[in-house]
This record gives sequence, C-alpha cells and structure tokens, in this order.
Amino acid sequence: MIEINKNYNESNLETMAKMPDNFIDLTITSPPYDNLRNYNGYSFDFEKIAKELYRVTKQGGVVVWVVGDATIKGSETGTSFKQALFFKSIGFNLHDTMMYRKINYIPLTHNRYEQEFEYMFVLSKGKPKTFNPIMVECKTKGSKTNGRTFYQTNSQNIPTEGHKNDAVKEYKQKGNVWEIPTNAGTKGHPAQFPEQLANDHIISWSNEGDLVYDPFMGSGTTAKMSILNNRNWIGSEISSEYCDIIEERIKKAWEEKRKEKDLQAGTIFGNEM
Ligand SMILES: C[S@@+](CC[C@H](N)C(=O)[O-])C[C@H]1O[C@@H](n2cnc3c(N)ncnc32)[C@H](O)[C@@H]1O
Repeated sequence: MIEINKNYNESNLETMAKMPDNFIDLTITSPPYDNLRNYNGYSFDFEKIAKELYRVTKQGGVVVWVVGDATIKGSETGTSFKQALFFKSIGFNLHDTMMYRKINYIPLTHNRYEQEFEYMFVLSKGKPKTFNPIMVECKTKGSKTNGRTFYQTNSQNIPTEGHKNDAVKEYKQKGNVWEIPTNAGTKGHPAQFPEQLANDHIISWSNEGDLVYDPFMGSGTTAKMSILNNRNWIGSEISSEYCDIIEERIKKAWEEKRKEKDLQAGTIFGNEM
C-alpha cells in the first residue's frame, strides 16, 4: 500500500501505479503548459496520466486541472480545450469551467490584450460527493426584490405570488471566476500557483481527513495547503531540485501547524510566535 503524506520524487505515472482504484478524494494540479517552460527538461504523457487519474479518483471525487495555452506561431495552441475534452471522453464530467484571474498580470505588450487568466477545469467522477461553497456578501443585501429574481418569477417573468416583499439575502455562493493575486509562496520554482488558489479548492471540494493528490507537485503548494487544512496528501515531482523545495516547505507547514495546536492548547503565548 502506498504511503500517504509523502512526496514521491518520480514520474506521476510511477506514483499512480502504486495506488489502488478509487483512492483519491481530490486532485489539484497544474501541468507544464505546452512546454512553455522547460522544467529541467522533463515532459509528460497527458493521455496516460488522464486515464490513471480517472482510475485512482474515488466515485464522486474531483480533479482540478489548472492550465493555460502557449502561443505558437501567432496562434494559441488550444491545448487546454483539447485536454478538457479528452477528460470528458474517458468518463469525467466537466463539472465547471472556472477561471483564475491574475489581478497583477505581467504586461507583455503583444498585438492582443494581455493574458490575465488561466482555466481551472473542475472534473468530477460522477456527481461531486463534496461541495462546501465559499460564500460572498451580496452587494444589495436587504433591499426589496419586488419578486423580481430568477427564483421568484414565473416563465412569463411575472413575480410569483408571496415573494413581493422578499429582500436580497446577505450571502450568495462565490462566482466561478476567481481573482487572486499572483503571490509566489516560495523562491526557486518558475510556476507556482498562489496559495489561496490551492486553499480555496481544497476547502471547496474536500473535507478534513480526505486525501488530496498533486501529480505535478512543483514547489509543494498543494501539500502545504493540505497540511494547513487538515487534509492528507500525496505528491509526485520528477525533478529532485524541486523536491528539495517541497521538503523544506512541508517542514515549515508542519511547524506552523504545531504552533497553531500549541496556541489552541494554551501551551505557548501569542507573542512567542
Ligand atoms: C506547473 S509546475 C507545478 C507548480 C505547482 N502547482 C506549484 O504550485 O509549485 C509543473 C511541475 O511538474 C513537474 N513534472 C513534469 N513532468 C512530470 C511528471 N511526468 N511527473 C511528475 N512531475 C512532473 C515539473 O518538474 C514541474 O515542477
């Protein structure tokens, strides 16, 4: 049986070969995009990985695939779409096409508008078994709807009886375009995703004690945020140079977690942190 809460310095296909079927609750990952960056010369076999991900994902489990396209000879490659459609063809549901919008994108001044988003394809094996939606405040909370909301009108757009005095609720589910500043959690890796991105997917699609996998672990963002959110985790990273960064980051996350527990237990005081 594969050991959990561990990063494997090997190809993700080797790690997944050790996993039984229906093993992982949530995968969150971002593969190399169209060889846009050369990660120490390593490449990957997308179709084999996608099929293995389907096998190891539990029924109701989710894969969040964060990806963008390279522009080659003046055209975007469309690889992101092709990958999403391939996932569908092998049995995944394309549960949601989400976007990660980079608030502080880097201007490159091409002959097109600046690239400020990446796709976050949320794929599920059957109906997702877990969804803990993040809620946001409604801007017009408390104001009268006069029965004119999607749920309160009939097919002729006439307010349904009994809803004319309803008020806009305080909270609603967050939308599927997430604006996140591109803060690199640590130095030494060219393409980390923001900690908040990993954090928000982990809390949305898994529960405490679940098993989270990142087949392209990079600098270890998924492992760190899994530890901080009391999830179990497994990672694969082919480059030993990046594995050193992962180990360091995991060590710090466990220390942070230990301090948090000590603080809760009252064994240390806040000013000792
Ligand atoms: C886009 S980066 C992931 C970054 C990560 N999300 C983070 O926050 O740091 C992709 C990573 O996949 C690794 N990689 C490429 N092919 C791989 C393979 N077949 N198996 C495991 N890792 C691989 C690369 O070395 C690189 O570090």
